Amino acid sequence: MVMNNYTDQQIGKDLFRYIKKRSKKTNLFKFAWLKNQILKISIQNKNLQTQLFRFVDVLPSLKTKDRRLDIFLQYLHVGKSLLYAPSFLAAKTPVIREFLDWVINFSVKELAKTFICGSNIQQAKQSIKKLSLKNQLYTLDLLGELTLNKKEADKYFNDYKQLIQEIPSAHLSIKLSALEPHINILDFEIKKNNLSNKLRELFRLAITANASINIDTEHYFWKDFYFQILKEILMEDEFRSWTGAGIVVQAYLKDSQKDLEDWISWAKKRKSSISIRLVKGAYWDYEYAKAKQQNWQCPVFTQKFQSDINYEKLSEILLDNYDFVRPALASHNVRSLAHAINYALKKNIPKQAFEFQMLYGMLDELKDYFSENDYTLRIYLPYGDLVQGMSYLVRRLLENTANDSFLRQGFLDGSSEDLLLQDPNEKSFDLPKTPVDTGFENIANIDFSKPINHTKIQSEIKNLNNEFKLAQKYPCLIGDQKIFADNFFESVNPAKPSQVLGLVSYGTEQDCNKAINRAKEIQKKWSQWDCSKRAELLKKVAHELEKNRFRLIALLCLEAGKPWVEADGEVSEAVDFLNYYAQESLELFSVDKLRSLPGEKNYNIYQPYGVSAIIPPWNFPLAILVGMASAAISVGNTAIIKPSMQTSMIAYEFVKIFNRVLEMKGLHQFKGLLNLITGEGKTIGNFLVEHPDVKLIAFTGSNAVGMSIYQKASSTFPPKRVVAEMGGKNAVIIDESADLDEALPVLIYSAFGYSGQKCSAASRAIIHQNIYQDFLARLKQTLPEIIITDPSQGQCYMGPVIDAHSQIKINNYINIGKLEADLLIGDLKLPETGYFVSPTVFVNVSEDSKLAQDEIFGPVLVVFKANNFDHAISIANNSGFGLTGGLYSRSPNNIKQAIDQFVTGNLYINRSCTGAIVSRQAFGGLKNSSIGFKAGGPNYLLQFVQEKTITENTMRRGFAED
Ligand code: FDA
Repeated sequence: MVMNNYTDQQIGKDLFRYIKKRSKKTNLFKFAWLKNQILKISIQNKNLQTQLFRFVDVLPSLKTKDRRLDIFLQYLHVGKSLLYAPSFLAAKTPVIREFLDWVINFSVKELAKTFICGSNIQQAKQSIKKLSLKNQLYTLDLLGELTLNKKEADKYFNDYKQLIQEIPSAHLSIKLSALEPHINILDFEIKKNNLSNKLRELFRLAITANASINIDTEHYFWKDFYFQILKEILMEDEFRSWTGAGIVVQAYLKDSQKDLEDWISWAKKRKSSISIRLVKGAYWDYEYAKAKQQNWQCPVFTQKFQSDINYEKLSEILLDNYDFVRPALASHNVRSLAHAINYALKKNIPKQAFEFQMLYGMLDELKDYFSENDYTLRIYLPYGDLVQGMSYLVRRLLENTANDSFLRQGFLDGSSEDLLLQDPNEKSFDLPKTPVDTGFENIANIDFSKPINHTKIQSEIKNLNNEFKLAQKYPCLIGDQKIFADNFFESVNPAKPSQVLGLVSYGTEQDCNKAINRAKEIQKKWSQWDCSKRAELLKKVAHELEKNRFRLIALLCLEAGKPWVEADGEVSEAVDFLNYYAQESLELFSVDKLRSLPGEKNYNIYQPYGVSAIIPPWNFPLAILVGMASAAISVGNTAIIKPSMQTSMIAYEFVKIFNRVLEMKGLHQFKGLLNLITGEGKTIGNFLVEHPDVKLIAFTGSNAVGMSIYQKASSTFPPKRVVAEMGGKNAVIIDESADLDEALPVLIYSAFGYSGQKCSAASRAIIHQNIYQDFLARLKQTLPEIIITDPSQGQCYMGPVIDAHSQIKINNYINIGKLEADLLIGDLKLPETGYFVSPTVFVNVSEDSKLAQDEIFGPVLVVFKANNFDHAISIANNSGFGLTGGLYSRSPNNIKQAIDQFVTGNLYINRSCTGAIVSRQAFGGLKNSSIGFKAGGPNYLLQFVQEKTITENTMRRGFAED
């Protein structure tokens, strides 16, 4: 049975001998040489490498010579390249300018050509022909991924169909992200239906044309979803016996052994084979960063040798099961390949039972080895437009130059063969470093790729809908008392206004007095309580909120009209605020920043103001309420919360949870730290603001109300402390170097995500004239496809606005807009009931018009055309507000200019201008947008305390204290 006694290393050395022999034949004028030179130069300087790859990424979208040279020089400059100064000077001479542009274009095109076999089907066919002469097979990949709208996705679908029909017995590798638009987020059921129909059609055609279709595996988020769809379809009677399908398992995933074993058991049940390609995985950087940012369990191994070990293990499992599936081992790592070859030899697995696969342009020196030794080799042949192919090209560049990459170590760094062929199991395991205790960590959002999370939200919505059938009465919460008023107002579901969720008490001035008295009564004791105990209590409340996450999401969805993703983000933000301010308060009370000298001791103490009024808005009824209230009490104040009428029940739920924690901890004496008075702003809100015992007001809401609070508070004697967040008219600039594939969906989300009702929402888009028409065309194609529906349904992208008043106000603005400007998108079909407003976009808007200046707080976007970047900045700054701003650009100079000149409290570069995260994006504005320091940032708590400086002369009769 055992056919050889070779070791993996010996086989590996054999492969290396072959490679060396072939390398000698490599002609200096071959483009592979050019590629290697460019890669070698780039890896000598990590910073320069990053800048060069960024330049490669942006190049296809730069339409003029001047722009290309300009951006090239910018990247050389940022990369601190020695080539910068001479290139800069040389580029002043027109002839040299011409020549430099030619060199840049030529090099990048040739670089691309080493990884991409052609820009059209004819060129791809020629490559296929060349391969067949060498007895090598192919699989064709049409470049491009992640389509935004139906038109773009249908184009891929039709191209795939055409390929199947045009190429005899075609072998395709396709990406599901290209087949179905990605503008909507949680439309899993719809995506599943559409994708299944498209796949059935492709599979049918493939069966008739004797073609094979491999489905590439992409990002982890979609993996289980795509696998599920494929398993279901391929098990259907019509496709069950078809053996032309293939899938990909990524060995860098911790789940991958389970994935592989599941596929094998599935194939056994199906009783007909599919191809399983084993790769390590092409999105390591993305998956790692994404998991870190979301604070999710990292799905990928974090040490390269772990992926290598796993790859070898999975190769064995795959080869052992060649009776049920067709193994395809895809790698350019000589050690990984040698291990598979050796294992197959040892197990006497027929060579025709499996195949090796490699990418076009990678490790070409080894490719003939396989056909010469009777192994099957299939080459992955990408072809298509370079703009669409950029992410593919950049992935390949990264793969060739990453520190841990086999190709880099073997062919650019020149590591020894012994090291390269070392058994990965022998590599020492770098023990994970003990995580640095920063004291604060953002809580993780829900992972919506897991269906269980959808089920949990649905079931909480169902529970709440049942609970709300009774339309119960909601009291004010004062101390340990529930005080029901004589009069109540209805809290309704904005998506179904006939659904009354509850009847909420109209609090009275008398209730306010009671609450203020109670808050005053316990404030001293609370402020004298040890600050670490206060912090511990806040953290416990955070924990309870987290435990109630799904109920709170459901409540935000029903009362505030929030789509699931938004509601989930809001719960996380509330939890983060509690934990963050708990931590920050400890620091505030422990770190002393004043200087003491011999004989003179100086220090600050921070004392609370006393009773605070917390007046949150309805658009972040949980997060902002919790943020302002927790900041106030973390440093020893007590609080009266006056929530927005539209979202009183969410406020009630929070105070209820807070009081429950007090009970659980036996802290009855502190009931009344947070008191809840529901009712009208103009009556009880004003009463609280003007009350002499309320010393501090934290407000978030409209500029008009904020300013009136500020005026009232500053006319008392002594004036009250006011912390206020007051809206924005936020601009997003998209310059001509921007990646529209990324900018467009993010802009749409920033503008329409919560029906434009976030103070950070994008409401002005400023587009460079060179991409303006393209931008408008894609916006017009994509925006009408967002799903507008009741947010109780997971697929909802945009729900209703908060109430009838808002609906009328926004529609009035839209009507003004129709007179003042040109309507680009509007009057879309809306659900029949509910306070829905059509997403609306205007163009040809005057900069000073109401449409361009007023905060509309609804799904209305105005688009400006900018002549150049200075003009874009000037339009952006032409606003009384300065809360958030966005910039999409791949020009280092423009990014720098925006950092210097864009007048905005939060500037977001190449990402959404909404969604600030506590401790990472301290949030607050300039101009009319805010008064005070930023929420979720290191200075916020300073506003909730009074600073007292103590100076003591410690000298006594000539001797000083140490
Ligand atoms: P090598 O041994 O150098 O491994 C590099 C890989 O190791 C990285 O790509 C990453 O997966 C992993 N890695 C890097 N740093 C790590 C760290 N710190 N900790 C843990 N792991 C780390 N990919 C994909 O995702 N989906 C697909 O459908 C396909 N399809 C495909 C088809 C064909 C024919 C080929 C040849 C390749 C693919 N790929 C792919 C790309 C493939 O994933 C990529 O080429 C390999 O990951 C490179 O691995 P090698 O074994 O060649 O190199």
